[in-house]
Amino acid sequence: MATTVTDSLTSFWNGFSLKSLEVSYTSLIIAATTLWLVWTSASSFFRTRGRDRFPPGSFGFPIIGDTVQFILASRSVVGHRTWLQKKIDKYGLLFKWRFQGMPVVVMDPPGGNKFVFQNDGKLFEIYWPLQMATLQGKEPVSVLHGEQHKLLRRHLNRFFDHAAISRYVEGVDQKAVQHFARYWEDKGESEFELVPFAAIKFYTFSTICNLLISLGEGPEMDRFLEHFVEWTKGLLSFPINLPGFAYYKALRARKRILQILGEYLKQRKREVAEGRAKVDILTNLLTVPDENGNLLSDESVCENLLVLLFAGFDTSSGALAMTINLIGKNPDVYEQLVQEHKSIVDKKREEGKEDVLSMQDLSAMKYTWRVIQETLRLHPPVAGIFREAMEDCEYKGYLVPKGWKLMYSVVSSHSDPKLFKDPTKFDPARWEQPPVPFTFIPFGGGPRTCLGNEFAKIQMIIFIHHLVRRFRWSITDPNEPVVRDPVPNTRKPIKVMKVTPSV
Ligand code: HEM
Repeated sequence: MATTVTDSLTSFWNGFSLKSLEVSYTSLIIAATTLWLVWTSASSFFRTRGRDRFPPGSFGFPIIGDTVQFILASRSVVGHRTWLQKKIDKYGLLFKWRFQGMPVVVMDPPGGNKFVFQNDGKLFEIYWPLQMATLQGKEPVSVLHGEQHKLLRRHLNRFFDHAAISRYVEGVDQKAVQHFARYWEDKGESEFELVPFAAIKFYTFSTICNLLISLGEGPEMDRFLEHFVEWTKGLLSFPINLPGFAYYKALRARKRILQILGEYLKQRKREVAEGRAKVDILTNLLTVPDENGNLLSDESVCENLLVLLFAGFDTSSGALAMTINLIGKNPDVYEQLVQEHKSIVDKKREEGKEDVLSMQDLSAMKYTWRVIQETLRLHPPVAGIFREAMEDCEYKGYLVPKGWKLMYSVVSSHSDPKLFKDPTKFDPARWEQPPVPFTFIPFGGGPRTCLGNEFAKIQMIIFIHHLVRRFRWSITDPNEPVVRDPVPNTRKPIKVMKVTPSV
């Protein structure tokens, strides 16, 4: 009898749970079908209603759109260009797509760039994809909007305007000399191999560390740089915060960087109180109030330093690595550079001047700047930047609704054959004429133009000056693809030969 009751109970429960499962599967299917129907009819209504008014293009898959393809493509220069070109071939230079769940309109150069730059802070505000926003934080100048952005931007601009930059030339020059002695000349051989991007980071990072926090070369700076390299890898990653993923590692690096900066900040406050603080941007930020009479909070100082340290080394390292690559492939360009720098050095010697660079010397390095500009055109460190529409706006008769994102594409501007003749050709001579406005935009434009563009310029020119005076080099694999992580660079070593005596 007991067995019969147990058996029937068991079969009852089995039957019950199976039925429940059937019920829940059926409800799930009904719910999913209903959702799908609602979504497709809503989106078709939305599309039909605005079809004539939205820019051309396709949103692709629901929610994710082109997110995965875009992030994967953006890891190589060719991949990014191919992704962009496919869209341009299909829809034209102005097109819409979907990224991380949001509609994005890629603007057509040069009109679209002008539209974004001239309406920045009015119709549009900066927008960063999820992982880039989290890695930067809430306080840096690069993420703030409206009045807060303008105020902080003016505050920081005092350290990056032309007058300030002229004062930094000598310090950067010294760092370049030290860099070549430590990473290139110490090889003790007349010929050696070296991966430029890996070596250059120590130079660019030391120049910006010196300027911001007076941190000199050595093991402490090298460890600090490692955290930044880890942080940087998170920028073009999938925002998956799980062990092993680049984003997870980048968030850990961010925490460590902020801890280290917090320690520097505390120590610096003590030094300021004792009247023995070094004069650099950190001391200035801790002691000089903004135009409203307020000092930045500790959190703001640290997050702004984080962004400035990153921006101050990674972009210029990529640009310099690619300049070396292109000069290596174009021996005639190398010869012209040597002539330019030799004549500047000879002139200084004739005038009995010290072998230390001044802003005036840098202004005379016109061909060098053309070579760098041409590299920035072919391999812009920043491929494109997002904005968000703060209100419905109209461009060329198309509607860009409030909340949609816009992207100005540096890559599409720089590679448009209507704007740059023979755009894939490396031709420094094209810079003998100034570019058409809003076509050459490696540093962006408008009120958010790169804050450090003048500093980047002296970092790069000074580096090339010392490089071509001391070395010549050849590329081991001219067909090596250029990767992006997130800035363009190559991984294979170059063959370097010392020039003796140096120019
Ligand atoms: C070759 C080197 C560099 C390139 C190509 C570059 C490019 C850019 C671009 C495209 C932007 C975005 C502008 C926008 O939002 O539309 C930007 C912003 C910024 N850059 Fe640079 N940059 C370089 C070097 C530097 C350096 C050396 C520093 C600092 C020392 C720096 C600091 C910043 C800051 C703080 C912003 C945010 C400005 C704001 O939102 O107001 N950059 N940069």
